[in-house]
Amino acid sequence: MPSQYTDATYGDRIAGIYDEWYADRFTDDTTAAVAFLRTLAGPGPVLELGVGTGRVALPLAETGLEVHGIDASEAMVARLREKPGGEAIQVRMDTFADFSLGRSFPLVYVVFNTFFALLSQDEQVSCFQAVARHLTPDGAFLMQAFVPDVSRFDAQNQRTSVDSVGVDQVVLETSIHDPVAQRTDAQHVVISDRSVRLYPVRIRYAYVPELDLMARLAGLRLRERWGGWNREPFPAKTWTHVSVWVRVD
Ligand SMILES: C[S@@+](CC[C@H](N)C(=O)[O-])C[C@H]1O[C@@H](n2cnc3c(N)ncnc32)[C@H](O)[C@@H]1O
Repeated sequence: MPSQYTDATYGDRIAGIYDEWYADRFTDDTTAAVAFLRTLAGPGPVLELGVGTGRVALPLAETGLEVHGIDASEAMVARLREKPGGEAIQVRMDTFADFSLGRSFPLVYVVFNTFFALLSQDEQVSCFQAVARHLTPDGAFLMQAFVPDVSRFDAQNQRTSVDSVGVDQVVLETSIHDPVAQRTDAQHVVISDRSVRLYPVRIRYAYVPELDLMARLAGLRLRERWGGWNREPFPAKTWTHVSVWVRVD
């Protein structure tokens, strides 16, 4: 019987290696992200959707902010709790497709493509609406995500690429793409002498105009969009965008 992919699957499978796997890639990115988020946060509190192991939440909390999070994966949040300051992050174990926390925030944010973990347009629209309900009147919703590039896939809407080749292991990424649903189902495949390990990740990507439309449906408008955390112009040569929406009223 094949396993079902749920909101928790990505995190539960990858929690044990997440920080180590992305450590190199994240060093500068996390510092720049925290600096950017700090400028929007005011006195706090702030809310992170998909807080994970606390890569961003913990250094942001160290600046003196009260940080809340939502996450579906017990394994990811267990890693957060193990770290210094991890117990102070208030985490709701739930999906961020819809939520009700009974309080509002001057800043809600979702980074590292995590918004795309919501696998349908309906869930993504619902998330924008839940965020809008949780913003203070002058509050902001920030998203960092990749800019979709479907030319990555071949004519059969597939892609297999090599992440790394070491003496003791090879890491491959293999994915199939549904351009109508804007979905990709992928596996990181880690092959070594002793084992083959699978790290599944499924996403529904969205282009920036669709995100802006979701924001409008939720009563938000775009205030700023950058090509990266250092306020690079958008569109830029980078693959990412940092977008900030605020309430229309
Ligand atoms: C790529 S990780 C990002 C973690 C952290 N924000 C960071 O930047 O390092 C995505 C996180 O979102 C969580 N997640 C995925 N889908 C979710 C959902 N529908 N509801 C709540 N959390 C979800 C995962 O468990 C994981 O912790």
